[in-house]
Amino acid sequence: MPLFQTIQFNETTKILIWEITESFDELYSKVTLKEKTQRRLDGMKSQMHQRAFLSVRMLIQEMGFTDKDLHYDEFGKPYFDCHNYISITHSYHFAAIIISDETVGIDMELQREKIQKIADKFTDYECNYLEPKFSEEYIKKLTVIWGAKEAIFKIRNEKGISFKDHIRVEDFSLDKKQTQSSLHFDDLIKDFDVHYEEIKSDNFEGTFTLVYAFEK
Ligand SMILES: CC(C)(COP(=O)(O)OP(=O)(O)OC[C@H]1O[C@@H](n2cnc3c(N)ncnc32)[C@H](O)[C@@H]1OP(=O)(O)O)[C@@H](O)C(=O)NCCC(=O)NCCS
Repeated sequence: MPLFQTIQFNETTKILIWEITESFDELYSKVTLKEKTQRRLDGMKSQMHQRAFLSVRMLIQEMGFTDKDLHYDEFGKPYFDCHNYISITHSYHFAAIIISDETVGIDMELQREKIQKIADKFTDYECNYLEPKFSEEYIKKLTVIWGAKEAIFKIRNEKGISFKDHIRVEDFSLDKKQTQSSLHFDDLIKDFDVHYEEIKSDNFEGTFTLVYAFEK
């Protein structure tokens, strides 16, 4: 299945999700890659990673861009030559991008019980409201918090940011699909609008959480 979902968030922000059901060859035949990208693709060990990487190029093409327009900075953060911002994520059989004229970050995660085991590594402030523990809601909320922190990290891209110590996600209810967050780093406070939703597919058992953040 090609394009799985499009979210036109506002006039200048679009989120595109690809469900990766095609083979490597099928995807490869549909994209044009520049030399640098081809080298990166060749160096990838897993074919699932390669298919996700190619799916991102399919999404970029859907938006009228090509692989030639997409670059990476020294830390691996993607950017376009033009004024649009882009952020990229892939998780299992999904790849997603967000393109906007605002500074944005995106993350997609499979909801998994094992996130509970690492909760103390990326939450601190959030412990004030994360109750009850060891429930389905707890796992869903932890996944939103993790995704929000990844998305914010992708926006700021600064060395030394700790998810636990420097990023706070405000209390939220799952059905509201939005919350606020802030980064406290280097004597500065930056605020973010965070949006999240669940993504499910008939082809894959399990539920994903899509999170995207805008710097205010
Ligand atoms: C770089 C990082 C954000 C990638 O996130 P991930 O969940 O592993 O993987 P995702 O599939 O969601 O995202 C991968 C994409 O992020 C983008 N990316 C990579 N490095 C990036 C950076 N420094 N800034 C912004 N975006 C980046 C790339 O587009 C990449 O995909 P591509 O190379 O195929 O184009 C993540 O690995 C990371 O370093 N996180 C911060 C470290 C940390 O503090 N971790 C947890 C502490 S408890």
